[in-house]
Amino acid sequence: MYKIAVLPGDGIGVEIVPQAVKSLQAVAARCGHQFEYTEALVGGVAYDSFGHPLPAETLALCKRSDAVLLGAIGGPKWDQLPVELRPEIGALLPLRKELALFANLRPCILFPGLLQASTLKEEVISGVDILVIRELTGGLYFGEKKREKTPDGGQQATDILTYSTYEIERIVRFAYQAARQRRRRLCSVDKANVLESSRLWREVVSDLALEYPDVETTHMYVDNCSMQLIRYPRQFDVIVTENMFGDILTDEASMLTGSIGMLPSASIGGQVGLYEPSHGSAPDIAGQNKANPLATILSAAMMLRHSFGLNQEAQLVETAVRSVLEDGYRTPDLVQASVGDAGIKPVDTITMGDLVAERIQTVD
Ligand code: IPM
Ligand code: MG
Repeated sequence: MYKIAVLPGDGIGVEIVPQAVKSLQAVAARCGHQFEYTEALVGGVAYDSFGHPLPAETLALCKRSDAVLLGAIGGPKWDQLPVELRPEIGALLPLRKELALFANLRPCILFPGLLQASTLKEEVISGVDILVIRELTGGLYFGEKKREKTPDGGQQATDILTYSTYEIERIVRFAYQAARQRRRRLCSVDKANVLESSRLWREVVSDLALEYPDVETTHMYVDNCSMQLIRYPRQFDVIVTENMFGDILTDEASMLTGSIGMLPSASIGGQVGLYEPSHGSAPDIAGQNKANPLATILSAAMMLRHSFGLNQEAQLVETAVRSVLEDGYRTPDLVQASVGDAGIKPVDTITMGDLVAERIQTVD
């Protein structure tokens, strides 16, 4: 019996999370597991009901669960709240910190059926299989933030970017272990030509590289990396980087997979893992049954693998997604670039969720 905290959150979160639960139920039925789901509010909807985006009860539920499945949080309705009550800063970042989730895994894999769905050329993205490991509980997002008045009547804003040897070592060792399970190539991304925190980052990586001689280590500046990702993405196996660089690079890298709606994530490192799509709450399409649930379904697969050690079950979900895509089923985000492709079958959120769940029961 695995206990899962289910936090749909805001916007499209409430539409995509039930699709992932359907997939988990299909796995349970096929493989004889028992998943127990407990739902709670987080984000803007939690603020509306309880006056805080991360109610104590929600946090307590997460801590006593075996894993957390999260949809997305935030939206224009809550953008004007005082900064500590905004869903991002008041709920998502503290949730990651409280659960000690320092490692964020974002696998950018191109499913063959989606070769034509990306805005990038087929010969560039074909065969892409990158694992981005983003440091998730340090750096700029967690540093001191302040506003001050300046003598000229204007203002001055400050965000502090700090990393310690300990924080860097922890995530980089994690990345080396991951590289050992893959093609044994690690690219560490920093801005060591300008930032002191990046110079420490690079020193720590260079020292650790000596302990992992079986893994090829390279260093790359973040600006160059953003260019290399769309120039020649197959050069990358595992990328390890700090919090903000990882945030930005993974949105970019999602287009290698066809759509940001395809990019799952696992946040691990503490007792309880958190699984959420890499995208946001998409207020522009919320409530329209249009959102792509696959990133959330693939995040549930990562939960099976990383929190429960159910590797075959995780693969089952991934194979089901692959098979549905190969049959031409596409949510609107994946249709745009493939207009005119004869085999394309446009579907909505719920239908996509049903198709994957059915396929989980039948694929080999
Ligand atoms: C992500 C998101 C979040 C982040 C936001 C919503 C705070 O962009 O998970 O990538 O920056 O981590
Ligand atoms: Mg992001």
